[in-house]
Amino acid sequence: MARRKMVAGNWKMNGARDANASLVHDVVFDSKRFPGIDIVVCPPAVYIESVGAALNGSSVQLGAQTLSEQEKPGAFTGEIHGGMLKDVGCSYVLVGHSERRSLYGESDALVAHKFKTAQACGLVPVLCLGETLAEREDGQTESVLARQLGAVVDLTGAAAFKSAVIAYEPVWAIGTGRTASPEQAQAAHAFIRGQLAKTNAKIANSTRILYGGSVKADNAATLFANADVDGGLIGGASLKAAEFLAICALAQSLCQ
Ligand code: PGA
Repeated sequence: MARRKMVAGNWKMNGARDANASLVHDVVFDSKRFPGIDIVVCPPAVYIESVGAALNGSSVQLGAQTLSEQEKPGAFTGEIHGGMLKDVGCSYVLVGHSERRSLYGESDALVAHKFKTAQACGLVPVLCLGETLAEREDGQTESVLARQLGAVVDLTGAAAFKSAVIAYEPVWAIGTGRTASPEQAQAAHAFIRGQLAKTNAKIANSTRILYGGSVKADNAATLFANADVDGGLIGGASLKAAEFLAICALAQSLCQ
């Protein structure tokens, strides 16, 4: 079964109402050229609703960058419940992005709970995994990926990945301009798929695994062409319509 390619833009803590309107206008306008892929944009929480309104009627889908792990809304100042994200039109939510893990202390266990809550709220979690440079140089890439994925699989079971996406994002490639080579990306993606296959081969085969980390229009083609790379999670390049759309065009060109 061919997996449908996905290109998701993670705007991180960037944007302003005018800039968002122009970016989304351009993305929506050109998205019609890419019927074979899923396109998602993940704006900062305060802009989700206005970006959602601008996406209305297009096939571009809305995602959030994080959510509370709490199963129920309540007295958790500053937090955002998954049900609220769903309520304002999100279909997806990033879970366990490396910036959340490293800058905000999100543990594997917390990330696993966020994943579970996201699904309980009807959102598709995009589970981000990835090793640091020190871990890679120390030969720990596979053990880190296995540990990060395992925390989720242990809590939810592999079958939960029927409605989830994984993003492999080597920390050393995020925002650095340094990308994993196509061989490094393929090896990590195949490893992740293999880990899932140990408990559920069918789910492993159908789960989309995106690559993230300094993806640009000039390196997306060689990354996306790998057998186990099903698209990209795009940070910096998702803030420029022309660059983001060029990446979408490359993904579209690879669909059968
Ligand atoms: P980058 O970010 O494309 O700017 O490296 C990717 C990400 O953090 O998702």
